[in-house]
Amino acid sequence: MTIIKKDPRVIVALDFPSAEPALELVAALDPTLCRLKVGKEMFTRFGPPFVEALVTKGFDVFLDLKFHDIPNTVAAACAAAADLGVWMINLHASGGRRMMETARERLEGLPHSPLLVAVTILTSLGQEDIAEAGFSGTPAENVLRLAKLAESSGMDGIVCSPLEAADVRPVVDSGFLLVTPGVRPSWAALGDQLRVMTPSDALNSGADYLVIGRPITAAPDPLQSLQDILTEIRAD
Ligand code: C5P
Repeated sequence: MTIIKKDPRVIVALDFPSAEPALELVAALDPTLCRLKVGKEMFTRFGPPFVEALVTKGFDVFLDLKFHDIPNTVAAACAAAADLGVWMINLHASGGRRMMETARERLEGLPHSPLLVAVTILTSLGQEDIAEAGFSGTPAENVLRLAKLAESSGMDGIVCSPLEAADVRPVVDSGFLLVTPGVRPSWAALGDQLRVMTPSDALNSGADYLVIGRPITAAPDPLQSLQDILTEIRAD
């Protein structure tokens, strides 16, 4: 597996309804201290130019669009995302082996190939939800099964809850990336996140990258919040 540079570990989730406050926040941040995540809301409103503006400023961008479609369509979407110069993209592991392998093959032929990670079971889904959707077993069992499927289908890693990272880490390669949202420093509000871990605990559970939004984006001084998180991580 390729050697992957891990620092900076924090990926700041840019979830804003308009571009101006997002760009204002980004102007206060530094690509040596964090990476950035753009999700469906901002991408749908502001599109490729917004993403390219962040890449041009020197940031590694995780384009979090969670593709899930027939193999050819997902592979073409991954190639289009790669053309934006982003650092990481994702798809749903439940789209199956052929979908993931086709996406991997398509990226391999490109001059710039982003990291490709898979969402296993959304952390918003509980036991009843996944049973109703036709999955047997517990969410944790499905996460493990899909993590192994993602690894054997050529993915670079998965997105999972930090509470699942400790179970997944021992059953995958040490270079297989675990990207975890649901991270809250002890001093931050939970917001709508219920099952959370602190940044240090998430890293100790085997996470490689921490997706953190509101504890930074909604803070009075976002750069200071980011630096406090980095200090906590380094002190651990
Ligand atoms: O503000 P907060 O730290 O809760 O932001 C977390 C980010 O990670 C959001 O962009 C959210 O959509 C994303 N995310 C998540 N849980 C998942 C998958 C993605 O919180 N299971």
